[in-house]
Amino acid sequence: MTHDLPESVTVLGLGAMGTALAHAFRTAGHPTTVWNRTPGRAEPLVARGAVAADLPGAAVTANRLIVACLLDYDAVRAVLAGQEAALAGRTLVNLTSGSPEQARETAAWAAGLGLDYLDGAIMITPPGIGGPDATLLYSGASDVLARHRPTLAALGEPVDLGPDAGVAGLYDTALLGLMWSALSGWLHGAALVGADGVRAEEFTAVATRWLSGAVAGFIGRYAPQLDARTYPGDDASLNVHLAAMDHLLHASEARGVDTALPELLAAQVRRAVTDGHGGDSYARLIEVIAK
Ligand SMILES: NC(=O)c1ccc[n+]([C@@H]2O[C@H](COP(=O)([O-])OP(=O)(O)OC[C@H]3O[C@@H](n4cnc5c(N)ncnc54)[C@H](OP(=O)(O)O)[C@@H]3O)[C@@H](O)[C@H]2O)c1
Repeated sequence: MTHDLPESVTVLGLGAMGTALAHAFRTAGHPTTVWNRTPGRAEPLVARGAVAADLPGAAVTANRLIVACLLDYDAVRAVLAGQEAALAGRTLVNLTSGSPEQARETAAWAAGLGLDYLDGAIMITPPGIGGPDATLLYSGASDVLARHRPTLAALGEPVDLGPDAGVAGLYDTALLGLMWSALSGWLHGAALVGADGVRAEEFTAVATRWLSGAVAGFIGRYAPQLDARTYPGDDASLNVHLAAMDHLLHASEARGVDTALPELLAAQVRRAVTDGHGGDSYARLIEVIAK
């Protein structure tokens, strides 16, 4: 019985995230070459067996699989400028955050070089890389993830979002929007109960159970309504939500808590109710939001 040796990999960029990625590759036993613009950041990795390349060209030619995690797409293109001939026949997995448009442009540039290109989005902060909550979204050349899945799995669970390189970045922005909405809702709640002396940790124990159970369940139930564009309000109607939002507004005002968030939520519901949809479910608001 034979076992494949861990694939060797180059990591371009040793910021907070690139460093975490390179450590995860080393932890999983992958021979790893690293490069960073500012020298000196590779030392802890070299102590763990990584090879530090002095120049981007040496890092690119060291391995067929290259993972880039730099500040932005301009930095990626700047680092790879002049390496076009060496990139042909290799694979670039770009885990730098950017717009869907930048990802598609970079995929077209790579295709012109004969470079296999996979775009990725990292949905965790550096300490979580390689851990059970780490999810990485990928889209682009369809066979790249299949070929390198065992290597990329060292970073976190790979999720394949198909052949359009822009889709990983699109999900990234959508999911960050969801995260910010959830975090701001949680902070508003913490401010509200905190005004009456409840400690954030007490509130959070109840809030996380509610979010991961009931609220996740609402989302799962409403997704087919969005796809079907029909919004039966058989669980809770927008009229009921609007009345409850009034309580949130008044409770916030009475405690001197900022009302910008509940006002925004109530304004969206009010528009749908004014348009005659008060009997529909909360999912109806997609028609207000998506225009
Ligand atoms: N940190 C997170 O929680 C997180 C989560 C998801 C995604 N990301 C994404 O991961 C990427 C890296 O983030 P980070 O947290 O590692 O940022 P960071 O700590 O600020 O590191 C930025 C990296 O980019 C390099 N860089 C910047 N401009 C450059 C240029 N013109 N040429 C060459 N190298 C350049 C820096 O090199 P020097 O050391 O020489 O400055 C450094 O290696 C970003 O796109 C970020 O959005 C981060």
